Amino acid sequence: MTISERKSVNDLSALPADFTWGVATAAYQIEGAVTEDGRAPSIWDTFSHTPGKVAGGDTGDVACDHYHRVPEDIALVKEVGAGAYRFSLAWPRIVPGGDGPVNEAGLDFYDRLVDGLLDAGITPFATLYHWDLPQALQDRGGWTVRETAEHFAAYTAVVVDRLGDRVKDWATLNEPLCSAWIGHLEGTMAPGLTDLTAAVRASYHLHLGHGLAVQAIRAATPDARVGIVNNLSPVEAATDREADRAAAVRGDGHINRWWLDPILGRGYPQDMVDLYGVELPVREGDMELISAPLDWMGVNYYFRQVVTADATGPVPHAKQVYLPGSRHTHMDWEVHAQGLEQLLLRLTEEYGVQRLYVTENGAAYQDVVLADGSVHDPERTQYLEEHLAACARAVRKGAPLAGYFAWSLLDNFEWAYGYDKRFGLVHVDYATQRRTVKSSGRRYAELAREVAAGRSRKAA
Ligand code: IFM
Repeated sequence: MTISERKSVNDLSALPADFTWGVATAAYQIEGAVTEDGRAPSIWDTFSHTPGKVAGGDTGDVACDHYHRVPEDIALVKEVGAGAYRFSLAWPRIVPGGDGPVNEAGLDFYDRLVDGLLDAGITPFATLYHWDLPQALQDRGGWTVRETAEHFAAYTAVVVDRLGDRVKDWATLNEPLCSAWIGHLEGTMAPGLTDLTAAVRASYHLHLGHGLAVQAIRAATPDARVGIVNNLSPVEAATDREADRAAAVRGDGHINRWWLDPILGRGYPQDMVDLYGVELPVREGDMELISAPLDWMGVNYYFRQVVTADATGPVPHAKQVYLPGSRHTHMDWEVHAQGLEQLLLRLTEEYGVQRLYVTENGAAYQDVVLADGSVHDPERTQYLEEHLAACARAVRKGAPLAGYFAWSLLDNFEWAYGYDKRFGLVHVDYATQRRTVKSSGRRYAELAREVAAGRSRKAA
């Protein structure tokens, strides 16, 4: 590629000077301190302590020890150039039983975090649920029962009552697809079920919980800006065969439309309701709650899906295939920045979304700590540059994209993959908890500075 081609590929000049540059994390992946100050177990404590569920037998017991290192980690948010920090709150720290008594010590922790962020000039973006359901609620049916949605709204009210004077940007759920499809159908995430009926019911109650939580946030903080975070992927047919094209439509229904349509007022897609064949436990008024207007929509983007028909495989009977010559990260996920541009434009043009954030995007690579202690990660840097350029192209074409959050601030507990997969802009040595800003983290700070100063054409 010539220098001028590279410049145009990485041209960020369409990003506005007030673009939000953020980094994201999630409670169970970084906090550790799982038995401290009144926290009770979540489904991820149970899952990760079940032999064979997580690579290497890893758990989130200590993780990045963030619970004890908040000031140091806030300084790192600044060092990588982020003006916003997306974190999640652990429900089992705040309402350990899932419903019932509130644990003030749990709230105090997030109170200190939020104050620390604000003192450092960093805008907090809080996510209320990033997969760590209190185990006590799982024991009563978890997301397969309606009461869990109601308890989620009650927990939300407690949190917003305490933090809503300072936190204005709220996400209800992170990636409900993973909770429902991976947690209840594929079984490789907590709670580890493989039951289509449970999965569909869980998806419905997650949506209901979202709707009830939106209501609770608005009641407590009228000036809150509320959104939801979905992980989305463009789905393409591997060939032009009719069967593959139909598989791509089903794949799109399973991965994208099921998660967008009800939230954006279109109801559940009928083709998917028919495919699943599971009755949704809808009560009067639910769909209005689920589709209550939002202030923004968050997109977590990692890869596209190229599929072929797979009649005998699990729903949606679409199998992902790998195209020859494609680049992959350490997760084996294809690097395809154009998919992010496509998604942002689809949300704008087809769904009419008025404000968007990329709430997660990033890549795992096998980082090496050099003899001088530094971590040089050119592949991750390239990944970030390519995806930010995709954002800029979408903005140029009209997408109302207000910000981008890199996943993740720190290397962390990557769920069923344990600590082997490193997504951080900051390297974590788990034996010593030493943090080292990677070269991608420094580059991220540089890009943020250049865009803010209107000098982004130099991004290449
Ligand atoms: O680590 C996860 C995160 O918790 C949710 N989104 C995808 C990331 C990478 O797998």
